[in-house]
Amino acid sequence: MDIRVINAPIQAVDADAIIVNLFEGVQRPGGATGAVDAALRASDAGEGLISQLIRLGDFKGKLNEVAVLYTQGRIPAPRVIVVGLGKANEFTLDRVRQASATAFRKAQSLGCRRVATIVHGAGIGGLAVREAAEATVEGALLGTYRFDEFRAEPDEGRIALGLVVEFDAAKLADIEAGAERGRFLAEAVNTARTLINRPPNVLTPAAFAEFAQDLAQRVGLRCTVLDETEIAAQGMGGVVAVSQGSQNPPRFVILEHAPQHAEREAPLVFVGKGVTFDSGGLSIKPAESMPDMKADMAGAAAVLGAMQAVAQRNVPRRVVGLIPLVENMPDGRAYRPGDVIRLMSGVRVEIVSTDAEGRLILSDALHYAKRYAPAGVVDLATLTGACIIALGERVAAGLFANRDDWAEQVLRAADAAGERLWRLPLYADYGEKIRSEVADIKNSGGRFSGVGSSAYFLYRSVEGEGEYPWAHVDMAGMMFSAENKGYHVKGAMGYGVRTLVYLSERYSR
Ligand code: BES
Ligand code: MN
Ligand code: ZN
Repeated sequence: MDIRVINAPIQAVDADAIIVNLFEGVQRPGGATGAVDAALRASDAGEGLISQLIRLGDFKGKLNEVAVLYTQGRIPAPRVIVVGLGKANEFTLDRVRQASATAFRKAQSLGCRRVATIVHGAGIGGLAVREAAEATVEGALLGTYRFDEFRAEPDEGRIALGLVVEFDAAKLADIEAGAERGRFLAEAVNTARTLINRPPNVLTPAAFAEFAQDLAQRVGLRCTVLDETEIAAQGMGGVVAVSQGSQNPPRFVILEHAPQHAEREAPLVFVGKGVTFDSGGLSIKPAESMPDMKADMAGAAAVLGAMQAVAQRNVPRRVVGLIPLVENMPDGRAYRPGDVIRLMSGVRVEIVSTDAEGRLILSDALHYAKRYAPAGVVDLATLTGACIIALGERVAAGLFANRDDWAEQVLRAADAAGERLWRLPLYADYGEKIRSEVADIKNSGGRFSGVGSSAYFLYRSVEGEGEYPWAHVDMAGMMFSAENKGYHVKGAMGYGVRTLVYLSERYSR
């Protein structure tokens, strides 16, 4: 969908549908919704169609409630989509994203090609115009996303053009700016979703790396890709071990956004777990839990998406993305339970489960990050089933950090993004769980405290010389959305992109 901002009264716009809104409990629509209502009267003395809808009690204005009205030639657009914003005193930017997504998805399901919307929340909602426009566009693009690369006949057409309509010319510049920022952000989330949705026979480590290289060139990021020989030469024993059972060789992607004035500043570093398929390796997973494991690169996809938006939104800070990519497979050359490997950090690891592979490749990347003397590091990983047990599926991701102030900043960014994140403790007790009899540590601490001991495993490559402010996000429960709801669509969620982008725009050291 292309996005265009135009200066007009919404009721005069020629489109397949126009979108207006209502807060819960409003009896007489005001603003743009009121103007549309007035235009939808049969005569000057008559009642508007929206007023009638309210009077009949058929529309309450609850968040994400939608009604479609047919305009019988009273205005150029044949349809008016009314979307509920919920209670005025509970209104937030995230609700703008949701309502906009719901309305646009409704329009798309009706086969509309050209859809016009007002900016939600800038009037009575009291939000800043630029942010309201940003959230409106973000919602529109997130809510209408579809993954149909492998279908001969996609269900319905897609909306070709989204018009953001504003009557007051004085607001146009802010709306333009906001609309573009919203588009950049939503497109980046959709990049992540597409990579996660792609099947694992197509999205191999090499294919992911190539995609990253093309994207980097398009949006203006520096990009270096290490192949299997270079990875081994770097001493990345975790990446080497996990990938050696696969026919698809590993890659290590390094992305950098360095605006001129910030070229030498200590960067923010994002690290993403990129397991393009996790069979469990020789510690093989049960068949039922394997299909979802094409999404075991959701952390990597979030980091790439975030880097895309960071570049496009011209974030005035230096930001680095590190993405280790492997496929975890059982094979004659696969690493085994019982093996002892050496990570890039020098830590030697006894492998007790080849299914605890994420922490091995992430540890190498977290050690690699030290060369940047980062201002802060965040890693994102679909790391443990235990995190889903702790916090629930599609409920929240878990956060671990070695510093409270850094944890706070990440939590605040997640909150603004509407991405649920909940801090869990990094108690030294978890370190006890991964003590090994034969090596420095082992790669699994067993069934209890599984999420904490995995975080502590990562911390072993962060602590000590060159230790930086570090946050680890276990997003195992946030791979997929089960339904179309608000700006979520069935399939990959694209969790984490918006949190990272907001963090890069707001953090202080
Ligand atoms: N990728 C999985 C974690 C996962 C499981 C993510 C389910 C999303 C849904 C990870 O590599 C894994 O297999 N973890 C093991 C660790 C265990 C062997 C210590 C787990 O959670 O069971
Ligand atoms: Mn695994
Ligand atoms: Zn995994």
